[in-house]
Amino acid sequence: MNNYCIDLHFEWSPFVSDYDPYSAPIGHSKLNEKYISPEFFQCIDSLGLRLLYIEIFVKEPNYGPGIHVDHGKKDMAKLNWVYGGEDSVMTWYKPKKGSLPKFNVTAINSYSVVYDESDVDLVHTQQIGLPSIVQSGVPHGIYTKEQIRYCYSAVLFTKDNIRLTFKETLNLFKEYIK
Ligand SMILES: [Fe+2]
Repeated sequence: MNNYCIDLHFEWSPFVSDYDPYSAPIGHSKLNEKYISPEFFQCIDSLGLRLLYIEIFVKEPNYGPGIHVDHGKKDMAKLNWVYGGEDSVMTWYKPKKGSLPKFNVTAINSYSVVYDESDVDLVHTQQIGLPSIVQSGVPHGIYTKEQIRYCYSAVLFTKDNIRLTFKETLNLFKEYIK
């Protein structure tokens, strides 16, 4: 176990049966809720969670690393499903002392903070599963190789609007840990 990425296993798909996860456009977008399966909503509802949205990140071959921190807390989790990009990895970093990240507005009008590779030290590398709980409150990035990578990333809050930490999320989903 580590504090960056843990694989889960669900018996269901996060999508309705006629949605093709490989049909998303290159770049950063949001999934229309009509494509999300009732099983996904039932699962998170039973755990006391609600969905803000599912973001889609489609990266072309030979991309990387795009190091950034998502807007929010310094320790928080997302649920990521990755289709294609079997030769891709996600990377996590520790900022070097005195590094000055840049504020960034994303394509879906959310915020992130961007780091140069020279401002961070690599601390963990892992391939993402279907799905994995991932830490998004510390600097992280992606490397693709030969394949296009389709990542669906669920942003979850409690019903009291709290964004859970990585460990709290892990604990909540413990019966699904692979
Ligand atoms: Fe991110």
